[in-house]
Amino acid sequence: MTNEITVRVPAKVNLYLGVGAPRPDGFHPLDTVYQAIGLYDDVTAGPADDWRVDVRTSDHVAAEALPPAGDNIVDRAARLLAAHHGVDVRGELRVDKDIPVAAGLAGGSADAAGALVALDRLWQLETPDDDLLRLAGELGSDVPFALVGGSAHGTGRGELVHRVPDEGGWWWVVVPFREGLSTPDVYRRFDQLHPDAPVVPTGPLAVLGALQDGDVRALARALHNDLQAAALDLRPELADVIAAGEEAGGLRGMVSGSGPTVVLLCGSGDEARQVAGTLAPSYDTVLIAPAPVAGAHLVVRA
Ligand code: C5P
Repeated sequence: MTNEITVRVPAKVNLYLGVGAPRPDGFHPLDTVYQAIGLYDDVTAGPADDWRVDVRTSDHVAAEALPPAGDNIVDRAARLLAAHHGVDVRGELRVDKDIPVAAGLAGGSADAAGALVALDRLWQLETPDDDLLRLAGELGSDVPFALVGGSAHGTGRGELVHRVPDEGGWWWVVVPFREGLSTPDVYRRFDQLHPDAPVVPTGPLAVLGALQDGDVRALARALHNDLQAAALDLRPELADVIAAGEEAGGLRGMVSGSGPTVVLLCGSGDEARQVAGTLAPSYDTVLIAPAPVAGAHLVVRA
């Protein structure tokens, strides 16, 4: 592609995920702290007379789990942005996926955020940030965070995000699985397991304090995911992965979002490499990711 624009977008973990009883619209109220981790998809847009999407996956991404062509979240992002400005959907979009699919890492949301930013540039729309965040929220609960990046407090159904102070430089070991988990299935199991969930989910004070202090041990103690019991109920073997990671020296392991990816917070980059090295022979893919990292950003090529 000539005149192409590449936008790099990170995966997320939820350091804290408080989930309340379902709202009348079926979504669950969330009180969450997102953190963007150094695992990325690249979305590249270039000019074309028609509309084309090409999705490429790296080795550890299950291509068979991708939605069918035309029904991808990047198609929806393109249509939504174009409708907002009254322009035609035109261009060639390539998605290079390194974030595992249906993994609880918001890979699809990252692609939607990347498509919004790349097409905004390609079509020279100069959409104001507030409009872009609102469009992102219409595409999915995690899409606004993929724009914002860093560490952020999320409320509503997750789409209302505000950056929070984060003095740490954190290291995660990430263990994804080829067979994903469906987010709606995990929320349904949450409803079955927690029929008395509060209307207002409990908040993440301890996590916010640990981020502000850059205190990795305090953060390890404070990590919490209300969806973890539901994910473990659907995939009991994930408990063994968490235990193995902690045994290998991870300070704390947890399920990322709705799972099935297991993430382990480590005390340093060296400790993360040691934990990953210990786990690597037992699992298909073991990755290391620093955090926090920037949200959707242009990649400038020489
Ligand atoms: O917003 P998103 O498209 O990521 O949500 C996917 C599905 O996850 C929703 O259709 C819903 O079943 C569930 N969900 C939910 N409450 C949220 C976010 C997602 O029930 N806050």
